Amino acid sequence: MEAIGQLTGGVAHDFNNVLQIIAGNLQLLKMGGTFAGKALTRLEQAQAGVERGARLASHLLAFARRQPLQAVVVDPAVLLGDAEDMLRRVLGERIAVVFDIAADLWNVAVDPNQLTNVLLNLAINARDAMPAGGTLTVRAANADGPVPGLASASACAGGCILIEVIDDGHGMPASVLERAFDPFFTTKPTGEGTGLGLSMAYGFIKQSGGEIQLDSAPGHGTTVRIYLGRSDEQARDIGLPPLVAVPSNGGTETILVVEDETDVRTTTVDLLLALGYRVLQAEDARGAIEIVQSGAAIDLVFTDVIMPGQVTSCDLSETVRETLPARRCCSPRAMPKACWRTRAGSTRR
Ligand SMILES: Nc1ncnc2c1ncn2[C@@H]1O[C@H](COP(=O)(O)OP(=O)(O)OP(=O)(O)O)[C@@H](O)[C@H]1O
Ligand SMILES: [Mg+2]
Repeated sequence: MEAIGQLTGGVAHDFNNVLQIIAGNLQLLKMGGTFAGKALTRLEQAQAGVERGARLASHLLAFARRQPLQAVVVDPAVLLGDAEDMLRRVLGERIAVVFDIAADLWNVAVDPNQLTNVLLNLAINARDAMPAGGTLTVRAANADGPVPGLASASACAGGCILIEVIDDGHGMPASVLERAFDPFFTTKPTGEGTGLGLSMAYGFIKQSGGEIQLDSAPGHGTTVRIYLGRSDEQARDIGLPPLVAVPSNGGTETILVVEDETDVRTTTVDLLLALGYRVLQAEDARGAIEIVQSGAAIDLVFTDVIMPGQVTSCDLSETVRETLPARRCCSPRAMPKACWRTRAGSTRR
């Protein structure tokens, strides 16, 4: 599983970069405004195809535990409460939904959107396993003892919360159970399942320091158990409205683009130029630091997170904070947690 994860992650990462180049160039073509009728339809179909590919790549990155996560401290009861309506809608009227959430649940540090996504995937699997209807139970409680299958030094060492998603559907025979987390493993007809739901859930929970286990037998339904480490920090309000994409009017500010992949960098630079910005570029963090320290007027530094060389994107964001305190350093991916911890305030996504 580990080897498949590494391979998948590598492929998905490169696949993502290729998609970024295609998406950027399609966007540039569209901004040129010379397409109409059939040509425009083809262009838009190509963009839709790229979006599909990007979703696939993000599922693969999730399985490979290389997904950029936005972990925040949340109260799981609030998160589960918010998810309840959505699950009821997805499951339809033939499936009864029971929520059994213990009072005084511990907080957890987790990416709330991804956890909701996992619950959604589990609910869809449960629905598919109960074609004639049934009951889906979501249960959550604190788990204070050792967690089966988890090393004592794991994130769960200081206590865990356990979320169980239980259905009374057809269950899985051993041959399915042992492969259920494998990427692309599905027993559903072609076109109905990609086989990425559980593998994504597995990658995400592991990347979050938790554990996910399946318990299932033919005719006895399925229980999915998710363990997440306790956090003693105060929970954030996750009821904020979701971010909405707004059309860009461009601008005239100066942006420093830092990216080691030439094609990705060129496409990003061209897009920003087409939007009216002044653009400086560097192929690694060291080059970017030289530009920042040269005194050039820079309004924003837009940087990749993982780049070759000794100097890291964290070093770059630190230099930006010291040299251009009023400026921001942002990234299309989440900065590593260490960056946030040691250089709080200098990096914004
Ligand atoms: N709750 C469940 N009850 C019975 N079988 C299940 C359940 N959840 C998963 N499975 C089995 O595990 C397989 C893999 O599940 P997974 O969610 O990864 O992929 P999928 O549901 O087939 O496709 P996708 O989620 O990508 O649409 C399923 O095809 C199904 O055979
Ligand atoms: Mg599924």
